[in-house]
Amino acid sequence: MELLEEIVEPLLSWYDIHARKLPWRENPEPYRVWVSEIMLQQTRVEAVKPYFARFMKELPTIGHLAKVPEDRLMKLWEGLGYYNRVRNMQKAAVKIVEEYQGEMPADFDKIRELPGIGSYTAGAIASFAFGIPKPAVDGNVLRVLSRVLKSYEDIMKQSLRRKMEEQVEAVIPLERAGDFNQSLIELGAIVCVPNGAPKCGECPLKSLCRAYEAGVAEELPRKTPQKSRRIEDRTVLVLLSDNRAALRKRPGKGLLAGLYELPNLEGHLDREEILQYVRGLELSPIRIQELPQAKHVFSHIEWHMEGFAVKVEEPEQDPEGMFFVEKEEMERRYSIPAAFGAYTEYFRHRF
Ligand code: ADE
Ligand code: SF4
Repeated sequence: MELLEEIVEPLLSWYDIHARKLPWRENPEPYRVWVSEIMLQQTRVEAVKPYFARFMKELPTIGHLAKVPEDRLMKLWEGLGYYNRVRNMQKAAVKIVEEYQGEMPADFDKIRELPGIGSYTAGAIASFAFGIPKPAVDGNVLRVLSRVLKSYEDIMKQSLRRKMEEQVEAVIPLERAGDFNQSLIELGAIVCVPNGAPKCGECPLKSLCRAYEAGVAEELPRKTPQKSRRIEDRTVLVLLSDNRAALRKRPGKGLLAGLYELPNLEGHLDREEILQYVRGLELSPIRIQELPQAKHVFSHIEWHMEGFAVKVEEPEQDPEGMFFVEKEEMERRYSIPAAFGAYTEYFRHRF
């Protein structure tokens, strides 16, 4: 028997006992699987849970997702990051409403064609929700498979992923396709964990695993290091008028498109430069105070931020492209990326 055929039975038996109870597992409707998998792409399970609950409560069906106004959608996603994920979900929801009467099609190829759904997510929806025997190979699963098979191939390569998908598809059990995929994911999440620290002692595959046998589990998987991030210096302003702070909407394209932000400038400006900028907005500064520095890491960029609170006299009209809001309204209504968290926190605590 091929090695991967042999892992099926012990993995499923292990999964039956050890699988965590997760909201999207207990009730694996296609929409719930989809939303949870998109959230889980960049965020830990524990952090996803409250977002998932809130999202499903407010947008209980694909039809609701298709119709929700953009600002509200961004607010529901606030803090999860990678906002294009949820924009694509909405595009896909519109397509599902238009072409499939609002129901996720029970067809792998049709799911795969939806915006923002790659082969992993399509496999997850198809197998967890519909029992379709397609693989769901993400980074966790690539790690497990590389170790079990003692493969030194680079898991960042698309060709390797396709090969692994073929190998999984060849052994996926027809009657438990979803559970099998989830068992691989679950093993990668709680036993065959990353960063050179697999818990082989408690692994149901240890008598089969080639990396364990050879004592090289910690060296695998191999992965090309990611390119270093570009560093951008920014100066973030908490412009205060009375108990209100200034916000502006980011452009519709590019990084953090369409979200709201505190006014900020490229580079690290000194007090005089900042005051000049503020006066240029036709605001009258009363006081300026330095705030702590902060850093935010995006996938390709790092922001190194310096912050200043600038108190201004109440303006007769809002500066071009900005508006002042109170804390309560800021929290309720505007989605502000986590990158500004250090400075929005300052505002929230002050008022
Ligand atoms: N990470 C990605 N998908 C997951 C899932 N379905 N369950 C647990 N962790 C996951
Ligand atoms: Fe991973 Fe160790 Fe299990 Fe192999 S034996 S699959 S390396 S946890």
